[in-house]
Amino acid sequence: MRKGKNMKDKLIIFDTTLRDGEQSPGASMTKEEKVRIARQLERMKVDVIEAGFPAASPGDFDAVSAVAQAVRDSTVCGLARAIENDIRRAGEALQHAKSGRIHTFIATSPIHMEKKLRMAPDQVLAQAVKAVKWAAEYTDNIEFSPEDAGRSDLDFLCRILEAVIDAGARTLNIPDTVGYSMPEQYGALIRNLREKIPNSDRAVFSVHCHNDLGLAVANSLSAVMNGARQVECTINGLGERAGNAALEEIVMAVRTRQDYFPCETGIDATQIVQASRLVSGITGFAVQPNKAIVGVNAFAHESGIHQDGVLKSRETYEIMRAEDVGWSANKLVLGKHSGRNAFRTRLTELGIELGSEEALNAAFARFKDLADKKHEIFDEDIQAIASDEAVVAAPEHYRLLFLRVCSESGEIPLATVKLVEGGVERQGEAEGGGPVDAAFKAIERIAQSGAELQLYSVNNITSGTDAQGEVTVRLQKEGRIVNGQGADTDIVVASAKAYIGALNRLMGGPEKLNPQL
Ligand code: KIV
Ligand code: ZN
Repeated sequence: MRKGKNMKDKLIIFDTTLRDGEQSPGASMTKEEKVRIARQLERMKVDVIEAGFPAASPGDFDAVSAVAQAVRDSTVCGLARAIENDIRRAGEALQHAKSGRIHTFIATSPIHMEKKLRMAPDQVLAQAVKAVKWAAEYTDNIEFSPEDAGRSDLDFLCRILEAVIDAGARTLNIPDTVGYSMPEQYGALIRNLREKIPNSDRAVFSVHCHNDLGLAVANSLSAVMNGARQVECTINGLGERAGNAALEEIVMAVRTRQDYFPCETGIDATQIVQASRLVSGITGFAVQPNKAIVGVNAFAHESGIHQDGVLKSRETYEIMRAEDVGWSANKLVLGKHSGRNAFRTRLTELGIELGSEEALNAAFARFKDLADKKHEIFDEDIQAIASDEAVVAAPEHYRLLFLRVCSESGEIPLATVKLVEGGVERQGEAEGGGPVDAAFKAIERIAQSGAELQLYSVNNITSGTDAQGEVTVRLQKEGRIVNGQGADTDIVVASAKAYIGALNRLMGGPEKLNPQL
């Protein structure tokens, strides 16, 4: 018999965009960016926000600590390997959190134990128990993950999980680290663990699925049907390699199919599109148009038969309402005559905090500048200005002062660029295969970074030929991959800004450790 609505279990939503999501090459975020995303996740009523891996670098430590101080309504979590120093760093980074959690992990699959850790199973078990006890010196909100659980031996998993529950772990997260599992198999794994571990009723079972075979969401939902009550996921499915289960898909599947799932989330789904845009803007990872829930085409009906059906009765072809996940028609919000207060108010309504009066003034000046060039200003334009300002607020080695590109049919484009570097003005000039190519080469004449361009993509922020173009540039140098973004009504200027943004990122920020290497 199905339980009544009010008797449904709570499904805990654990967002790891700021940790596993950040492990995607090129998706590293500054402290300020992490705080902005964390605030949006809090607004969306995410239960647990995994803010990073404090032992990875001083920058990561500061970011987790800043998120812990900024967020009040969600639990903030820090990741730690099952190593004393990692756990102490996580405990310290979380000391000001209103509600903090330490998430510690160690690999349990034969291949990881033998080849990566070079430890025997009993040593791994003893280390896991020690790790949970170190964490217990800081908090009783402890999560333990047996990394690569999807390929681990069931009996060993039962032994190690029983031991960490006795040591104080209250959430047991079962990661399909390499995205190898099939939905039935993974659901059965969760059911078996719950049934076989004698003290399993003292912990919440959680799942963390990677998308290597495109099954992360299916596996997570199968686990939910078998008793998992926490799902680890990321906005837009960001994450290591092919990514993690997409938060928006998990939340909307559970919500849309309440007839099927025995649990419900506490998420405010109307904040989903805003969160998706924010993460995509900050990381530069564009959302594919046909992506479920947050793709621009997710609610668009092209075929005449579908359009006709929807006009007659929306339910003919729609199982969710676009507005329920935060889609709104492009709304004309501000214009040329709007003042600073109106601009500030709209930023607040959009959940954007620029952090300082200086940043607000700079963003307002850009808004006025844009309003001169562009007839109508939409929310998307304001968001682009705001994310540009947040990037500009990051340490800048180079600043664009001037750009001229001469381009005419039959002639080779020529770009002249002036940059400010450490207060000194520098000029570069170069020809290129096209205006953007010439601009990048002129910048390189000055910077001489030798970085390899890995990605160049342009998106129209709104429709129309006067729309701002949002450009993402990804550079790679000596194994480090960084993204830069720029927005402008002039696509070449947007491109130059994006290139310079990426160079600035390449110049700053110490190397950090990946927890899973
Ligand atoms: O994929 C994984 O196994 C992880 C763990 C650290 C939970 O990200
Ligand atoms: Zn992971």
